[in-house]
Amino acid sequence: MTLENKKVVLGITGGIAAYKCPEIVRRLKDLNCDVRVVMTSGAKEFITPLTLQAVSGNPVSDSLLDPAAEASMGHIELAKWADLVVIAPATADVIAKINAGMANDLLTTICLATDAPIAIVPAMNQQMYAAKTTQRNLTSLRNIGMHIWGPASGEQACGDIGKGRLLEPMQIVELIQAHFTPKSLDLNILITAGPTREAIDPVRYISNHSSGKMGFAIAQAAQQIGANVTLISGPVSLATPHNTKRLDVVSASDMHEQAMAQAPSHDIFIACAAVADYRPSNVSDQKIKKNDDDMTVTMIKNPDILADVSALTANRPFCVGFAAETQDVETYARGKLTRKKLDMIAANNVSIAGQGFNSDDNALTLYWKQGKLDLPLADKQELAKQLVVEIIKHYNHAQ
Ligand code: PMT
Repeated sequence: MTLENKKVVLGITGGIAAYKCPEIVRRLKDLNCDVRVVMTSGAKEFITPLTLQAVSGNPVSDSLLDPAAEASMGHIELAKWADLVVIAPATADVIAKINAGMANDLLTTICLATDAPIAIVPAMNQQMYAAKTTQRNLTSLRNIGMHIWGPASGEQACGDIGKGRLLEPMQIVELIQAHFTPKSLDLNILITAGPTREAIDPVRYISNHSSGKMGFAIAQAAQQIGANVTLISGPVSLATPHNTKRLDVVSASDMHEQAMAQAPSHDIFIACAAVADYRPSNVSDQKIKKNDDDMTVTMIKNPDILADVSALTANRPFCVGFAAETQDVETYARGKLTRKKLDMIAANNVSIAGQGFNSDDNALTLYWKQGKLDLPLADKQELAKQLVVEIIKHYNHAQ
Protein backbone atom coordinates (compact mmCIF):
# COMPACT_ATOMS: atom_id res chain seq x y z
CA MET A 1 0.00 0.00 0.00
CA THR A 2 1.43 3.44 -0.89
CA LEU A 3 1.03 6.39 1.43
CA GLU A 4 0.21 8.86 -1.36
CA ASN A 5 -1.51 11.98 0.02
CA LYS A 6 -0.86 10.90 3.61
CA LYS A 7 0.67 13.55 5.84
CA VAL A 8 2.76 12.36 8.78
CA VAL A 9 4.45 14.49 11.43
CA LEU A 10 7.41 12.53 12.78
CA GLY A 11 8.35 13.81 16.24
CA ILE A 12 11.89 12.90 17.27
CA THR A 13 12.98 13.15 20.89
CA GLY A 14 16.35 12.84 22.57
CA GLY A 15 17.29 9.18 22.60
CA ILE A 16 20.16 7.27 21.03
CA ALA A 17 17.64 5.49 18.75
CA ALA A 18 17.12 8.83 16.96
CA TYR A 19 19.84 7.67 14.55
CA LYS A 20 17.24 5.31 13.02
CA CYS A 21 14.93 8.18 12.05
CA PRO A 22 16.41 9.05 8.64
CA GLU A 23 15.70 5.43 7.63
CA ILE A 24 12.07 5.76 8.79
CA VAL A 25 11.71 8.97 6.77
CA ARG A 26 13.37 7.45 3.70
CA ARG A 27 11.04 4.43 3.77
CA LEU A 28 7.99 6.67 4.17
CA LYS A 29 9.15 8.82 1.25
CA ASP A 30 9.58 5.63 -0.85
CA LEU A 31 5.84 5.12 -0.28
CA ASN A 32 5.13 8.73 -1.37
CA CYS A 33 4.23 9.84 2.14
CA ASP A 34 4.54 13.55 2.91
CA VAL A 35 6.67 13.77 6.07
CA ARG A 36 7.37 16.78 8.27
CA VAL A 37 9.90 16.30 11.04
CA VAL A 38 9.65 17.99 14.44
CA MET A 39 12.66 17.67 16.74
CA THR A 40 13.09 18.41 20.43
CA SER A 41 16.29 20.08 21.60
CA GLY A 42 17.39 16.71 23.02
CA ALA A 43 16.94 15.04 19.62
CA LYS A 44 19.35 17.51 18.04
CA GLU A 45 22.09 16.22 20.37
CA PHE A 46 21.84 12.87 18.58
CA ILE A 47 21.12 13.78 14.96
CA THR A 48 21.21 16.98 12.91
CA PRO A 49 18.12 18.71 11.51
CA LEU A 50 19.99 19.04 8.21
CA THR A 51 20.04 15.25 7.73
CA LEU A 52 16.30 15.03 8.30
CA GLN A 53 15.62 18.00 6.06
CA ALA A 54 17.61 16.29 3.31
CA VAL A 55 15.76 12.97 3.55
CA SER A 56 12.28 14.43 4.11
CA GLY A 57 12.58 17.18 1.51
CA ASN A 58 10.89 19.58 3.96
CA PRO A 59 12.17 22.07 6.52
CA VAL A 60 12.57 20.61 10.00
CA SER A 61 10.69 22.36 12.82
CA ASP A 62 12.29 22.55 16.23
CA SER A 63 11.17 25.69 17.98
CA LEU A 64 7.95 27.08 19.31
CA LEU A 65 9.34 30.55 19.54
CA ASP A 66 11.04 30.98 16.17
CA PRO A 67 9.22 33.79 14.28
CA ALA A 68 10.66 32.69 10.90
CA ALA A 69 9.51 29.10 11.35
CA GLU A 70 6.12 30.22 12.65
CA ALA A 71 5.74 32.41 9.56
CA SER A 72 6.21 29.44 7.18
CA MET A 73 4.22 26.68 8.87
CA GLY A 74 3.29 27.59 12.44
CA HIS A 75 2.68 25.04 15.16
CA ILE A 76 -1.11 25.19 14.82
CA GLU A 77 -0.95 24.75 11.05
CA LEU A 78 1.42 21.80 11.48
CA ALA A 79 -0.94 20.25 14.04
CA LYS A 80 -3.87 20.70 11.64
CA TRP A 81 -1.86 19.53 8.61
CA ALA A 82 -1.06 16.08 10.07
CA ASP A 83 -3.10 12.96 9.31
CA LEU A 84 -0.99 11.15 11.90
CA VAL A 85 1.61 12.20 14.48
CA VAL A 86 4.25 9.55 15.19
CA ILE A 87 6.73 10.12 18.01
CA ALA A 88 9.78 7.92 17.50
CA PRO A 89 11.82 7.52 19.56
CA ALA A 90 9.58 8.63 22.43
CA THR A 91 11.58 9.04 25.64
CA ALA A 92 10.15 8.49 29.13
CA ASP A 93 10.32 12.27 29.53
CA VAL A 94 8.16 13.14 26.52
CA ILE A 95 5.69 10.37 27.40
CA ALA A 96 5.32 11.88 30.89
CA LYS A 97 4.93 15.40 29.47
CA ILE A 98 2.27 14.36 26.96
CA ASN A 99 0.41 12.47 29.65
CA ALA A 100 0.50 15.53 31.89
CA GLY A 101 -0.86 17.69 29.05
CA MET A 102 2.22 19.92 29.02
CA ALA A 103 3.00 22.15 26.05
CA ASN A 104 6.40 23.64 26.77
CA ASP A 105 8.01 22.84 23.43
CA LEU A 106 6.92 22.49 19.81
CA LEU A 107 6.32 18.73 19.85
CA THR A 108 4.22 18.58 23.02
CA THR A 109 2.28 21.64 21.83
CA ILE A 110 1.47 19.89 18.54
CA CYS A 111 0.28 16.86 20.51
CA LEU A 112 -2.22 19.06 22.33
CA ALA A 113 -3.21 21.08 19.28
CA THR A 114 -3.77 18.23 16.83
CA ASP A 115 -6.91 16.21 16.35
CA ALA A 116 -4.96 13.64 14.33
CA PRO A 117 -4.27 10.24 15.91
CA ILE A 118 -0.98 10.04 17.82
CA ALA A 119 1.32 7.02 17.88
CA ILE A 120 3.97 6.79 20.58
CA VAL A 121 6.96 4.55 19.80
CA PRO A 122 8.85 4.26 23.09
CA ALA A 123 12.61 3.77 23.33
CA MET A 124 14.50 3.95 26.58
CA ASN A 125 16.55 1.97 29.10
CA GLN A 126 14.73 -1.20 30.15
CA GLN A 127 14.55 -0.17 33.81
CA MET A 128 13.09 3.22 32.87
CA TYR A 129 10.54 1.48 30.66
CA ALA A 130 9.59 -0.94 33.45
CA ALA A 131 9.27 1.88 36.01
CA LYS A 132 5.76 2.10 37.44
CA THR A 133 5.44 5.77 36.48
CA THR A 134 6.31 5.09 32.82
CA GLN A 135 3.90 2.16 32.71
CA ARG A 136 1.19 4.27 34.34
CA ASN A 137 1.76 7.04 31.78
CA LEU A 138 1.62 4.62 28.85
CA THR A 139 -1.56 2.97 30.15
CA SER A 140 -3.16 6.35 30.60
CA LEU A 141 -2.21 7.44 27.04
CA ARG A 142 -3.49 4.16 25.64
CA ASN A 143 -6.76 4.65 27.53
CA ILE A 144 -7.31 8.02 25.86
CA GLY A 145 -6.87 6.44 22.45
CA MET A 146 -3.20 7.00 21.63
CA HIS A 147 -1.41 4.15 19.90
CA ILE A 148 1.60 2.66 21.67
CA TRP A 149 3.86 0.80 19.23
CA GLY A 150 6.53 -1.39 20.79
CA PRO A 151 9.02 -1.26 22.35
CA ALA A 152 11.05 -4.25 21.23
CA SER A 153 13.29 -6.25 23.49
CA GLY A 154 17.00 -6.99 23.23
CA GLU A 155 20.43 -5.51 23.85
CA GLN A 156 20.40 -1.80 24.57
CA ALA A 157 22.91 0.96 23.80
CA CYS A 158 23.76 1.15 27.52
CA GLY A 159 24.57 -2.58 27.61
CA ASP A 160 21.41 -3.63 29.45
CA ILE A 161 19.23 -6.34 28.00
CA GLY A 162 15.45 -6.02 28.13
CA LYS A 163 12.41 -4.28 26.81
CA GLY A 164 12.88 -0.70 25.62
CA ARG A 165 14.44 -0.82 22.14
CA LEU A 166 12.88 1.22 19.36
CA LEU A 167 11.03 -0.94 16.84
CA GLU A 168 12.93 -1.37 13.59
CA PRO A 169 12.25 1.37 10.99
CA MET A 170 10.42 -1.05 8.66
CA GLN A 171 8.18 -2.24 11.51
CA ILE A 172 7.23 1.37 12.26
CA VAL A 173 6.53 2.03 8.57
CA GLU A 174 4.37 -1.10 8.36
CA LEU A 175 2.40 0.02 11.42
CA ILE A 176 1.86 3.40 9.75
CA GLN A 177 0.66 1.59 6.60
CA ALA A 178 -1.66 -0.56 8.70
CA HIS A 179 -2.97 2.57 10.39
CA PHE A 180 -3.94 4.00 7.01
CA THR A 181 -5.37 0.73 5.66
CA PRO A 182 -9.06 1.33 4.99
CA LYS A 183 -11.03 0.26 8.01
CA SER A 184 -13.31 -1.97 6.02
CA LEU A 185 -10.87 -4.58 4.83
CA ASP A 186 -13.49 -6.90 3.37
CA LEU A 187 -11.51 -9.66 5.00
CA ASN A 188 -13.03 -12.38 7.16
CA ILE A 189 -10.66 -13.70 9.79
CA LEU A 190 -11.35 -16.76 11.94
CA ILE A 191 -9.33 -17.20 15.14
CA THR A 192 -9.24 -19.95 17.76
CA ALA A 193 -8.10 -18.99 21.26
CA GLY A 194 -7.75 -20.33 24.78
CA PRO A 195 -7.56 -23.88 26.09
CA THR A 196 -9.96 -26.77 25.63
CA ARG A 197 -11.30 -28.90 28.48
CA GLU A 198 -11.57 -32.65 28.11
CA ALA A 199 -14.00 -34.15 30.61
CA ILE A 200 -13.07 -37.16 32.75
CA ASP A 201 -16.34 -37.17 34.67
CA PRO A 202 -18.97 -34.47 35.49
CA VAL A 203 -16.58 -32.65 37.87
CA ARG A 204 -13.06 -33.21 36.48
CA TYR A 205 -11.29 -32.40 33.27
CA ILE A 206 -7.88 -32.28 31.58
CA SER A 207 -6.72 -28.91 30.25
CA ASN A 208 -3.66 -26.60 29.98
CA HIS A 209 -2.43 -23.14 30.97
CA SER A 210 -3.70 -21.08 28.04
CA SER A 211 -5.41 -17.88 29.21
CA GLY A 212 -6.67 -16.85 25.76
CA LYS A 213 -4.79 -13.50 25.97
CA MET A 214 -2.77 -14.05 22.78
CA GLY A 215 -5.75 -15.13 20.67
CA PHE A 216 -8.00 -12.36 22.01
CA ALA A 217 -5.26 -9.77 21.30
CA ILE A 218 -5.09 -11.06 17.71
CA ALA A 219 -8.87 -10.75 17.41
CA GLN A 220 -8.71 -7.17 18.70
CA ALA A 221 -5.84 -6.22 16.37
CA ALA A 222 -7.62 -7.73 13.35
CA GLN A 223 -10.85 -5.97 14.25
CA GLN A 224 -9.04 -2.64 14.71
CA ILE A 225 -7.76 -2.69 11.15
CA GLY A 226 -11.25 -3.34 9.86
CA ALA A 227 -11.46 -7.12 9.39
CA ASN A 228 -14.63 -9.08 10.19
CA VAL A 229 -13.53 -11.29 13.05
CA THR A 230 -14.96 -14.56 14.31
CA LEU A 231 -13.37 -15.82 17.51
CA ILE A 232 -13.86 -19.42 18.63
CA SER A 233 -12.88 -19.46 22.27
CA GLY A 234 -12.27 -22.19 24.81
CA PRO A 235 -13.17 -21.45 28.46
CA VAL A 236 -11.43 -18.19 29.44
CA SER A 237 -12.35 -15.20 31.56
CA LEU A 238 -11.71 -12.40 29.07
CA ALA A 239 -14.03 -9.74 27.68
CA THR A 240 -14.96 -10.12 24.01
CA PRO A 241 -13.06 -7.63 21.81
CA HIS A 242 -15.23 -4.93 20.25
CA ASN A 243 -17.10 -5.86 17.06
CA THR A 244 -16.11 -9.50 17.27
CA LYS A 245 -18.39 -12.49 16.76
CA ARG A 246 -17.55 -14.86 19.62
CA LEU A 247 -18.41 -18.56 19.69
CA ASP A 248 -17.74 -20.26 23.03
CA VAL A 249 -16.77 -23.91 23.13
CA VAL A 250 -15.48 -26.28 25.79
CA SER A 251 -13.82 -29.35 24.27
CA ALA A 252 -11.54 -29.94 21.28
CA SER A 253 -14.41 -31.76 19.53
CA ASP A 254 -16.70 -28.71 20.00
CA MET A 255 -13.94 -26.41 18.69
CA HIS A 256 -13.36 -28.72 15.73
CA GLU A 257 -17.06 -28.70 14.85
CA GLN A 258 -17.31 -24.89 14.98
CA ALA A 259 -14.05 -24.34 13.09
CA MET A 260 -15.04 -26.70 10.26
CA ALA A 261 -18.43 -24.99 9.98
CA GLN A 262 -16.93 -21.45 9.96
CA ALA A 263 -13.68 -21.89 8.01
CA PRO A 264 -15.07 -22.01 4.44
CA SER A 265 -16.64 -18.54 4.83
CA HIS A 266 -13.37 -16.99 6.06
CA ASP A 267 -10.29 -15.74 4.17
CA ILE A 268 -7.76 -16.33 6.94
CA PHE A 269 -7.68 -18.92 9.75
CA ILE A 270 -5.39 -18.27 12.73
CA ALA A 271 -5.18 -21.23 15.12
CA CYS A 272 -3.93 -19.80 18.40
CA ALA A 273 -5.86 -22.14 20.71
CA ALA A 274 -3.98 -24.60 22.86
CA VAL A 275 -6.10 -27.58 21.89
CA ALA A 276 -5.80 -30.70 24.02
CA ASP A 277 -4.21 -33.36 21.84
CA TYR A 278 -5.97 -36.21 23.67
CA ARG A 279 -9.23 -36.74 25.55
CA PRO A 280 -10.34 -39.50 27.93
CA SER A 281 -11.80 -42.31 25.82
CA ASN A 282 -14.64 -42.86 28.30
CA VAL A 283 -16.33 -40.04 30.17
CA SER A 284 -17.97 -41.31 33.31
CA ASP A 285 -21.63 -40.25 33.77
CA GLN A 286 -21.13 -40.06 37.53
CA LYS A 287 -18.35 -38.61 39.67
CA ILE A 288 -15.59 -41.23 39.89
CA LYS A 289 -15.10 -42.34 43.52
CA LYS A 290 -11.61 -42.60 44.94
CA ASN A 291 -11.80 -46.25 45.93
CA ASP A 292 -8.39 -47.23 44.58
CA ASP A 293 -4.85 -45.96 45.29
CA ASP A 294 -4.18 -45.39 41.63
CA MET A 295 -6.26 -44.72 38.61
CA THR A 296 -5.70 -45.04 34.86
CA VAL A 297 -7.34 -42.76 32.34
CA THR A 298 -7.14 -44.09 28.79
CA MET A 299 -6.91 -41.28 26.24
CA ILE A 300 -7.67 -41.09 22.54
CA LYS A 301 -6.43 -38.54 20.05
CA ASN A 302 -8.50 -35.46 19.35
CA PRO A 303 -9.07 -34.30 15.78
CA ASP A 304 -6.43 -31.84 14.59
CA ILE A 305 -8.49 -28.72 13.88
CA LEU A 306 -5.78 -26.83 12.05
CA ALA A 307 -4.74 -29.76 9.86
CA ASP A 308 -8.37 -30.46 8.95
CA VAL A 309 -9.09 -26.82 8.02
CA SER A 310 -5.88 -26.70 6.00
CA ALA A 311 -6.91 -29.88 4.15
CA LEU A 312 -10.19 -28.37 2.94
CA THR A 313 -10.40 -28.77 -0.81
CA ALA A 314 -13.07 -26.09 -1.35
CA ASN A 315 -12.92 -22.58 0.12
CA ARG A 316 -9.76 -23.26 2.10
CA PRO A 317 -8.70 -20.14 4.06
CA PHE A 318 -5.08 -18.95 4.29
CA CYS A 319 -3.93 -21.02 7.28
CA VAL A 320 -1.69 -19.72 10.08
CA GLY A 321 -0.79 -22.08 12.91
CA PHE A 322 0.93 -21.53 16.22
CA ALA A 323 3.64 -23.74 17.64
CA ALA A 324 4.17 -23.82 21.39
CA GLU A 325 7.62 -25.33 21.87
CA THR A 326 10.08 -25.80 24.73
CA GLN A 327 13.15 -26.79 22.64
CA ASP A 328 14.40 -26.93 19.02
CA VAL A 329 11.79 -24.32 18.20
CA GLU A 330 12.59 -23.89 14.50
CA THR A 331 12.80 -27.62 13.76
CA TYR A 332 9.49 -28.43 15.44
CA ALA A 333 7.72 -25.35 14.06
CA ARG A 334 8.86 -26.05 10.51
CA GLY A 335 7.81 -29.68 10.98
CA LYS A 336 4.26 -28.52 11.80
CA LEU A 337 4.29 -26.03 8.92
CA THR A 338 5.05 -28.85 6.48
CA ARG A 339 3.00 -31.65 8.07
CA LYS A 340 -0.16 -29.56 8.40
CA LYS A 341 0.44 -27.88 5.00
CA LEU A 342 0.23 -24.38 6.48
CA ASP A 343 0.91 -21.03 4.86
CA MET A 344 2.65 -19.70 7.96
CA ILE A 345 3.38 -20.67 11.54
CA ALA A 346 4.03 -18.45 14.59
CA ALA A 347 6.34 -20.17 17.04
CA ASN A 348 6.74 -19.28 20.69
CA ASN A 349 9.18 -20.71 23.19
CA VAL A 350 6.87 -21.42 26.12
CA SER A 351 9.72 -22.54 28.39
CA ILE A 352 10.96 -18.95 28.89
CA ALA A 353 9.60 -17.25 32.02
CA GLY A 354 7.50 -14.13 31.44
CA GLN A 355 6.23 -15.06 27.99
CA GLY A 356 3.96 -17.62 26.35
CA PHE A 357 1.19 -19.22 28.41
CA ASN A 358 -0.78 -16.92 30.67
CA SER A 359 1.62 -13.97 30.69
CA ASP A 360 0.97 -10.48 29.31
CA ASP A 361 4.01 -10.59 27.01
CA ASN A 362 5.17 -12.88 24.27
CA ALA A 363 7.77 -13.19 21.53
CA LEU A 364 7.16 -14.96 18.23
CA THR A 365 9.14 -16.15 15.25
CA LEU A 366 7.15 -16.46 12.05
CA TYR A 367 8.12 -19.18 9.60
CA TRP A 368 6.92 -19.71 6.08
CA LYS A 369 8.30 -21.90 3.31
CA GLN A 370 10.97 -19.47 2.11
CA GLY A 371 11.61 -17.32 5.14
CA LYS A 372 11.32 -16.32 8.76
CA LEU A 373 10.81 -13.16 10.82
CA ASP A 374 11.39 -12.47 14.52
CA LEU A 375 8.77 -10.45 16.38
CA PRO A 376 10.65 -9.68 19.61
CA LEU A 377 9.24 -9.68 23.14
CA ALA A 378 6.37 -7.20 23.48
CA ASP A 379 3.05 -7.12 25.23
CA LYS A 380 0.51 -9.34 23.52
CA GLN A 381 -1.58 -6.39 22.25
CA GLU A 382 1.40 -4.86 20.45
CA LEU A 383 2.71 -8.20 19.23
CA ALA A 384 -0.72 -9.08 17.83
CA LYS A 385 -0.77 -5.86 15.78
CA GLN A 386 2.59 -6.72 14.22
CA LEU A 387 1.51 -10.31 13.64
CA VAL A 388 -1.73 -9.31 11.90
CA VAL A 389 0.17 -6.86 9.63
CA GLU A 390 2.55 -9.68 8.61
CA ILE A 391 -0.21 -12.21 8.06
CA ILE A 392 -2.20 -9.83 5.84
CA LYS A 393 0.95 -8.99 3.85
CA HIS A 394 1.55 -12.70 3.16
CA TYR A 395 -2.14 -13.34 2.48
CA ASN A 396 -2.20 -10.51 -0.11
CA HIS A 397 0.97 -11.87 -1.68
CA ALA A 398 -0.60 -15.33 -2.00
CA GLN A 399 -3.71 -14.02 -3.83
O1 PMT B 1 -3.51 -18.17 25.67
P1 PMT B 1 -2.27 -17.51 26.23
O2 PMT B 1 -2.13 -17.70 27.72
O3 PMT B 1 -2.16 -16.07 25.80
O4 PMT B 1 -0.99 -18.26 25.60
C1 PMT B 1 -0.72 -18.19 24.24
C2 PMT B 1 -0.29 -19.56 23.68
C3 PMT B 1 1.04 -19.98 24.28
C4 PMT B 1 -1.36 -20.61 23.98
C5 PMT B 1 -0.19 -19.36 22.12
O5 PMT B 1 0.77 -18.40 21.82
C6 PMT B 1 0.15 -20.67 21.40
O6 PMT B 1 1.29 -21.06 21.28
N1 PMT B 1 -0.90 -21.39 20.93
C7 PMT B 1 -0.76 -22.72 20.31
C8 PMT B 1 -0.63 -23.75 21.40
C9 PMT B 1 -0.53 -25.16 20.86
O7 PMT B 1 -1.39 -25.94 21.07
O8 PMT B 1 0.52 -25.39 20.10
P2 PMT B 1 0.86 -26.84 19.44
O9 PMT B 1 2.26 -26.69 18.98
O10 PMT B 1 0.54 -27.95 20.37
O11 PMT B 1 -0.16 -26.93 18.21
C10 PMT B 1 0.20 -26.57 16.89
C11 PMT B 1 -0.97 -25.90 16.18
O12 PMT B 1 -2.01 -26.86 15.94
C12 PMT B 1 -1.62 -24.77 16.96
O13 PMT B 1 -1.97 -23.78 16.00
C13 PMT B 1 -2.88 -25.41 17.56
O14 PMT B 1 -3.94 -24.45 17.70
C14 PMT B 1 -3.24 -26.44 16.48
N2 PMT B 1 -3.92 -27.65 16.98
C15 PMT B 1 -3.28 -28.51 17.84
C16 PMT B 1 -3.92 -29.65 18.21
C17 PMT B 1 -5.23 -29.93 17.74
N3 PMT B 1 -5.88 -31.01 18.10
N4 PMT B 1 -5.83 -29.05 16.93
C18 PMT B 1 -5.20 -27.92 16.53
O15 PMT B 1 -5.77 -27.11 15.78
